Amino acid sequence: VSKKISIGILGATSYTGIELVRLLARHPGVSISFISSRSNPNERYSKIFPEIKGIFDATLIAPEDTYTETVDCVFSCLPHAVSAELLLPFIEKGTRVIDLSADFRIKDPHIYEQWYKHKHPAVDLLKKSVYGLPEHYRKQIAGAQILANPGCYVTSVILPLIPLFKKAGAVIEWVIADSKSGVSGAGRTLKMTNSFCEAHDNFSAYAVGHSHRHTPEMEQELSLAAKKPVTLTFSPHLLPINRGILSTLYIKTALSTAECQAIIAAEYANEPFVRVREAGDLPDIHDVAYTNYCDMAFTGGSDGCPVIAVSTLDNLVKGASGQAVQNMNIMFGFGETTGLLR
Ligand SMILES: NC(=O)c1ccc[n+]([C@@H]2O[C@H](COP(=O)([O-])OP(=O)(O)OC[C@H]3O[C@@H](n4cnc5c(N)ncnc54)[C@H](OP(=O)(O)O)[C@@H]3O)[C@@H](O)[C@H]2O)c1
Repeated sequence: VSKKISIGILGATSYTGIELVRLLARHPGVSISFISSRSNPNERYSKIFPEIKGIFDATLIAPEDTYTETVDCVFSCLPHAVSAELLLPFIEKGTRVIDLSADFRIKDPHIYEQWYKHKHPAVDLLKKSVYGLPEHYRKQIAGAQILANPGCYVTSVILPLIPLFKKAGAVIEWVIADSKSGVSGAGRTLKMTNSFCEAHDNFSAYAVGHSHRHTPEMEQELSLAAKKPVTLTFSPHLLPINRGILSTLYIKTALSTAECQAIIAAEYANEPFVRVREAGDLPDIHDVAYTNYCDMAFTGGSDGCPVIAVSTLDNLVKGASGQAVQNMNIMFGFGETTGLLR
């Protein structure tokens, strides 16, 4: 495509928002038409993020002032509930939207309400939304009007598991996903647990077992892959680093480690952003920080030990804004890696 597409960003003052601006400002096919903020309307973006000065700058506008804008695509970096509300006027006028929140990810409105404690404002649209995991929904993404960008933990957990459940769901007895995330995973909004003295030089578990909101999203996608209901144990942890997620997946299965490794290596052989390593060559967060890659490898599986997968990604890139740009590239016919290789 030769013409640039115009885009807008709701909630541009967020961590995912600045990451999106960084990526889109140097994307050759995109022009950023508006950026919004509820608490800082009329403020220069470079005042809030001085690092972006000289690369991109604009004045933030209030969310309600965005509705008169006509753009090709709107990204939402807003919290759930607010996100669907503010995207609705754009969806109604036919604009293509990419939602980084959870609002269009969960297909069953009852499950959404149960986990997000909020009645979905547009239940009918859930059927229309496409789950934005390019490695498994590329064709549907190309034609999507409402794109639900996956959760950060979710991407790290389901990328290694979907191919296994697709091929051999019947011989997977259980999965425990033990995940760790850097503090930016919780956003820029102030929270006591994320303050320096609480998070730095510390390590903690939270929402363990079956209580984190990413659990139903993982179960939805794994059940679709297995063609039967799948449940899993998911235990997230807060790592005292800025960015990155590392998930260790314990998989009780009749498959050997070598078989799992072979299934995954074959599945992702031609994927630009999934790098499968040799068995036992475990990736770490530094290998993927600031990139759109998800790296993974298998190990374990002997002496009574379950098969183990280790997967890692940057929560703000492959776990959020990078994956959103990958989805936009597919939706608008750009090369899938455009603006994402560095
Ligand atoms: N952080 C991650 O690693 C990550 C990864 C994947 C997905 N996500 C999802 O992406 C979305 C953004 O996450 P984030 O961590 O980047 O968020 P964040 O840093 O906490 O920022 C939230 C943004 O939403 C705006 N906002 C908050 N309440 C609002 C309201 N009632 N009305 C209008 N605007 C409001 C804030 O804008 P102002 O204060 O300027 O008004 C801010 O720009 C969330 O849905 C999150 O679940 C996050």
